[in-house]
Amino acid sequence: MERQMLRASLEKLEQKGYLMVCNVPVDPKFELGAVLKYFKNEQPILFNKVKGSKIPIVGGLFGNRQIYYEMLQMEHQERFQRIADAIARPKPARLLKGGPVTENLITRNIDLPSLMPIPTFHEKDSSSFITAGIMVVKDPENGKRYISVRRFQINGGNKISALIASPMLTRQFESLEKQDKALEVAIVLGYDYSLLLASQISSETYGVDKYEVDSALRGEPLELVKCHSVDLEVPAHAEFVLEGVMSPHQREWEGPFGELMGYYGPRGSHPIIEIKTVMHRNNPIFQTTFPCREEHLSNGMIRELELYSDVKRMADVRDVNVTIGGGCRFHAVVSIHKTAEGDGKSALIGALSSSKDLKHVVVVDEDIDIFDRDDVELAVATRVQASRDVIIIPGALGSGLDPSHHIRGVTDKMGMDATKPLGEEGLRFQRARIPQYENIDIKKYFPHGG
Ligand SMILES: Cc1cc2nc3c(=O)[nH]c(=O)nc-3n(C[C@H](O)[C@H](O)[C@H](O)COP(=O)(O)O)c2cc1C
Repeated sequence: MERQMLRASLEKLEQKGYLMVCNVPVDPKFELGAVLKYFKNEQPILFNKVKGSKIPIVGGLFGNRQIYYEMLQMEHQERFQRIADAIARPKPARLLKGGPVTENLITRNIDLPSLMPIPTFHEKDSSSFITAGIMVVKDPENGKRYISVRRFQINGGNKISALIASPMLTRQFESLEKQDKALEVAIVLGYDYSLLLASQISSETYGVDKYEVDSALRGEPLELVKCHSVDLEVPAHAEFVLEGVMSPHQREWEGPFGELMGYYGPRGSHPIIEIKTVMHRNNPIFQTTFPCREEHLSNGMIRELELYSDVKRMADVRDVNVTIGGGCRFHAVVSIHKTAEGDGKSALIGALSSSKDLKHVVVVDEDIDIFDRDDVELAVATRVQASRDVIIIPGALGSGLDPSHHIRGVTDKMGMDATKPLGEEGLRFQRARIPQYENIDIKKYFPHGG
């Protein structure tokens, strides 16, 4: 039985019947991504026969909320408590002398495209991309570890380009660059649900060691090993680790790349990483993620925690949904227990202050299922009067991942108060219900399948 990381997850997914296995040859150029996209990236799939390589690829692991909860053994209602506890009370990771990922070591003639099957996803993508890599670095000044998912463009041989949207990491790299020094990095492939979730916590906001947050979240120490050629630690049970340096004063064109919302992100000049060592397990599996919104669920789950806390300051919040359709960052639906007129607007103020990326928010009463789009639409259709219930804040800072933000360099924010009025007027909104509907056993009426 596997202990941690991808192999342990695959075992569990298989036991639960969630893993699909594809034994038909699949081309990593376009075809593999097309299959993942067909299932909206919500279906874990192991591609055993990848054209041009002996190494299988796994994808679609992280796009389904229910599977995510099950793999973390977490109930939907307890998610905020569990994640907040792990951030507030991180637990030490455990350093091992060796682990499966150190079984193979490559230090010479590194040619990434021939070492691993790296998919190309969209027609106009500039190259093939490693889309699921967790990058590990240490702050050169205080030695703190930082990990986060970044995308890496394959430039040929042992060179890749990194897209880094983190102001902190950019500052760290630029300060080293001024001293003509390189930043050591490790890129991890073959991790699991807990580590991905921990990796999505903002370093700028929390400044925590995400390996330790992961250890708290998984309920046991994350097992690490030291890298071979850089002073960094990586998960012992990972599939692949690429070790290298982000060299000073070197940039390469990166992009275009079909990204988060399904649009192409533009070409830009970004730092390059030279890979010096590749470590991998015996019979490794390459981990990928289709570069689209469903795989950002983990990021959205951290945003939900922050949104929930911010609305809580203003109203009696019951639950929040940072929706997949909104890229797990642009749209949110918030449910509250309304006790005073004005609660809906207060909740909107709290919500819109939660993140610069959040663009449109709908606040509903607790009788609305915020994970059911039809139910939310019902609230908007029947409980909103635009002249009173829609708030627009023109020209705020938005997200660079929203193409419409670039037209003016700013983004309008909109909040919709779709809560019903209190008191006598509220009685108009009582939902018609059938007694015992929730308990109906439909098979009883159609014993032969209807
Ligand atoms: C599938 C996936 C791909 C991502 N790709 C990138 C990326 O290419 N560049 C980036 O800066 N952030 C990317 N992110 C977001 C960061 O991983 C995330 O914002 C993280 O919290 C940043 O951590 P930091 O605060 O330590 O920088 C991605 C996230 C996911 C889930």
